[in-house]
Amino acid sequence: MSHRRVLRVSLSLFLALLAAISVVACIGGGKRAGRDAGDDGGTRSASAPPLPTPPSLLPAADASTASASADAGALVSAERGKELYGKYCDFCHGETGKGYAADEAPALANDDFLTLASDEYLEGAILRGRPGTTMSAWSVSYGGPIGLNESKALVAFLRSWQRKPLALAPIDAGAPKGDAARGAPVYAAQCASCHGAQGSGGKYNALANPELLASASDGFLATTIERGRENTPMKGFGGKLTAPQIDDVVALLRSWQKPANHELELPPKPGELKNVVIAPKGPQPAFDAKADFVPVDTVKKEMDRGATMIILDARAPADYARMHVAGAISVPFYDAEKYAKQIPKDRFVLTYCACPHAASVKLRDAMRTLGYPRVAVLDEGILAWRDRGYPVRGGPTKP
Ligand code: HEC
Ligand code: HEC
Repeated sequence: MSHRRVLRVSLSLFLALLAAISVVACIGGGKRAGRDAGDDGGTRSASAPPLPTPPSLLPAADASTASASADAGALVSAERGKELYGKYCDFCHGETGKGYAADEAPALANDDFLTLASDEYLEGAILRGRPGTTMSAWSVSYGGPIGLNESKALVAFLRSWQRKPLALAPIDAGAPKGDAARGAPVYAAQCASCHGAQGSGGKYNALANPELLASASDGFLATTIERGRENTPMKGFGGKLTAPQIDDVVALLRSWQKPANHELELPPKPGELKNVVIAPKGPQPAFDAKADFVPVDTVKKEMDRGATMIILDARAPADYARMHVAGAISVPFYDAEKYAKQIPKDRFVLTYCACPHAASVKLRDAMRTLGYPRVAVLDEGILAWRDRGYPVRGGPTKP
């Protein structure tokens, strides 16, 4: 089975990474100059020239990461990062990084975020994603298109949106200060409506996400809660909650932390596809040949009737590995051409993502450009498919 590649990231490597992250990403949880002290976020505009972070203003602990992004070889330049961002990221996070272009993707061009986030934090988010959300793991080691140079270039580009210097303080040493039980009612009253009762399944960021909690220090979380993120629905709670209450909520978030699962069976690469066509001998499905979108219920009905079709998962391969529509194959939206050689043109082709339309529409249009006559989007996307109890496959190789 040469096409089956099982990804293994050793625990020790992961722990070493965690240690490195906590050295550079930890910050003090106390009061600090926030929006009151002249946050210039409001005057920032997309057309303003980029203002690189002056290295002299960075704390010593972060000197090495500063040089990583300032050290602009052609491969890691902000210009290269901009190209990559345009190809893989802007349809969710927005061309100017304002966020919310699709699927509640958070703002990235936001000083309340960028000044707290170390390069390691940003690279970790890009490379390992936020499993269970539409933020893919983009790393080549998860079958994605982003290598180390590319992720550094992306970070350099994100930094070009930053107006104020990094504010990473020294590590907050010692045991966590808060109490999760005391934090629970505060969370339920103030946060659950947006972030979900247990930190997932809410309208916005999944706070119980294992990759987020592995990257974010207590200081990062406390300061984010205290200050909020200007011009986003995340308002600062500094005036509403006391510092000990914020520490209690942080302790609650920590209590949800589980080890991130790094073992996935990645899908076949271009040229290695198998079982592309569903029900090759079945009748053609009764979809409108000109349809742009076909509802999930219609697709399921035709599948049950034994109709033949091809279903493409438009997301990055790691998302497919975690969960996909039974019978679908992985064809990431950015690489359609490479996979198309093995995909016949005489069947109805459906594309889907979790967004539910961002990546799937990109792939549908790419397939049409490649000469496929009947291509439509599986309208509501994979989450609606799963929620109706329709068959899905995939998941970590070890629970
Ligand atoms: C009205 C909705 C809303 C409420 C209420 C809310 N948040 Fe948020 N929160 C958001 C949004 C939206 C973001 C992402 C903002 C962005 O960067 O674009 C966010 C981001 C965050 C982040 C950063 C997560 C990350 O991935 O970087 C943390 C931590 C957080 N919120 C904690 C809380 C806590 C704790 C509470 C309650 C005390 C709370 N939030 C209340 C909407 C909300
Ligand atoms: C399909 C939509 C989508 C695409 C494409 C996408 N993202 Fe995201 N991204 C999200 C969502 C949604 C989140 C928040 C996930 C959560 O925590 O719930 C996120 C989170 C992030 C975060 C963490 C933000 C924080 O507050 O901690 C970073 C950094 C990020 N994305 C960068 C990128 C980059 C760079 C790319 C391109 C390589 C990209 N994203 C592509 C949807 C997307």
